[in-house]
Parts: sequence; structure tokens; C-alpha cells
Amino acid sequence: MNMAVQTTLREEGRDTRSLECSHLGQFEADVLSGLAGAPKTLPCKYLYDEAGSKLFEAICELDDYYLTRTEADIFQNSLDSMAAFLGPSTILVEPGAGNCEKAEPLLGRMDSPHAYCPLDISPEILLAAQQRIQARLPNLNVTPVIGDFTSEDPWAELPVSEHRRVIFFPGSTIGNFTPDQAKGLLRQFAKYLRAGDGLLIGADLVKDSVVLERAYHDSKHITEQFNKNLLTRINSELNGNFDVDAFAHRAFYHRYRQRVEMHLVSLTQQTVTVSGQEFSFKEGETIHTENSHKYTLNGLKELLEQTGFNPKQYWTDNKQHYAIYYANVL
Ligand code: AVI
Repeated sequence: MNMAVQTTLREEGRDTRSLECSHLGQFEADVLSGLAGAPKTLPCKYLYDEAGSKLFEAICELDDYYLTRTEADIFQNSLDSMAAFLGPSTILVEPGAGNCEKAEPLLGRMDSPHAYCPLDISPEILLAAQQRIQARLPNLNVTPVIGDFTSEDPWAELPVSEHRRVIFFPGSTIGNFTPDQAKGLLRQFAKYLRAGDGLLIGADLVKDSVVLERAYHDSKHITEQFNKNLLTRINSELNGNFDVDAFAHRAFYHRYRQRVEMHLVSLTQQTVTVSGQEFSFKEGETIHTENSHKYTLNGLKELLEQTGFNPKQYWTDNKQHYAIYYANVL
């Protein structure tokens, strides 16, 4: 964490050391329980350390990974009609905002947005984005909130105001939650919103499995590096001794579950130590590292209806590979 960020957090009365320690403690607990499980799993949120976030940015540039490009095209073609649904003097809240690059063009088209509140676990990235957006839109109040949006805490820190609120949740992040988890998350979003407030959400759609599998098994092997980086991270942060080359990247589309699953496959029988605990792997045994659920247009609409929203409008590309939905809170 750099000095500027530490200073800012201290000015806000937050102890940066305890923030880092609690993250490490949670990471350790989640990794140890995930590796002790049968089947072995690791939460996909831990794919995004500094190296993992850079690899994910590289994935977004790949020809094989159509999601980012397709979503960007849909936004570009429909920014004005989306901005009209968001309304005037709105507070735009973005959970998991990262570098905030998707919100910037939208904020530029909205009618006098009252505030933008990006919410993310990485203070460095948020503060850099805050400075960039503030320079471009000097009248906008940009209020970053640091925290894990899947927990209740950061939601309590968002500014209290009578202005209309819209949650912006692009990038098909919803796909990284199982349908039950997705329902829980959208209900949590709805709790922060009031009647008439909105949600603008992007999701990847069900399609030909060849297209899907190529996106997660790209020809440049960047997704393989992204997946294996989780083992490198465990080695450096949790005193692990994974032999990264003794694991292979596997990604496949599960038609019945409507999701791409990402795994790390043990190439031999082996024992690995993490934080002093031993974990044995059979040859071919996997660690399930990510789910990426795909929706039909109707499935997405139903998900919104089941979680307290009234879907109003969707935008898609001509191949119907991806969709962005706007919904009001009932
Ligand atoms: C962030 N998330 C929507 C990506 C996805 O497509 O599920 C993460 C990713 N995993 C492998 N490639 C990209």
C-alpha cells in the first residue's frame, strides 16, 4: 500500500495495518478450508492480487475473450438511452469497480450525476481512478469506498442522501456467483436501494460451447497464467510450496449448470504444504477455482424479478452474446 493511500485512510481514521492483516487472515482461512474440502475449491475473488489483476486486464484484450469487447460495444451504441434510464442527479454506486473505466463514459452522458461511489478492495486502484475521473468531471463528487462488496460493511459506509441511487454492476461479475449466491447478492443490492432506484447490470449469455471454451482456454495461455497465479500467490503469501508446473489449467462448459468451470488439475500424486498444513493430491484431482455462469435473456430477467427488481429494458449485441439489463426496484 503506498504512502498516499495510507495517509488518506489514516485521515479517515482507518487503521491500514489491521485492514491488511484481516485480509491476510481471511485469505489464509479460506485457502486452508478450501484445500481441506472434497472436492478442493478456492474462492475466485483471490485470483485478483496485483499480478492476477494485470493478467485479467490482459485477458480482456484477447480476441478469444469476447465478453469485454462485446459489452463495450453495447455500451458505446446505447449510452444515451442507458443514461436516460439512470435519470438526473443520481448517485451511481459501482460494486467491484476496479479502475472505474466502464463508469466513466456513462457518467459523462448522465444528466448532472450527483455522485459516483466506486466500491472495491484495492485502495490504490480506487484512488488513482478517483483522481482521473475528478480531473475529467470536476463537478462530480467521487467518493470511493474501500471494502469487499459481498460483505455488509462497505454498504454501511456509502453516503446517506435523498438522491436517486443506481447500482452499476457491469463485466458479468454476477456470473462468478452461483445462482443462489447471485440471488443473495442482488437482494443485498436491493436492500441498499429504495423504491424507484435502479440497477444496471451486464451478464454473459448462453452460447455455443466452442466459443465459450475458447474464451477461457485462450490460444495465448493468458487465462492459464491467471489461474495458476493463484498458486504462486498462495506460495508467497501463505508460505506454500505448490509446484506450479505440476498443475494444469482446465476450463470447460458445463451445459446443465450453464457455466464455464475453471480448475487446476494435479498432474501427479503429490503433497503440498500451506501455512504449515499438508494437503495431498491424487493424480488428476482438481482444485475448482472459478465458476462463470451464463444466462439466457429470460433467465436474467427471472433472476431480477426474483430478487425485488422490475426489469425495464435490455440491450444486446447482434449475436446475442452478451446483455445489459436496466431494472427498477419495486
Ligand atoms: C470477472 N469475470 C466476469 C471473468 C469471467 O469471465 O468470469 C473472470 C475470468 N475468468 C477467466 N477469464 C475471465
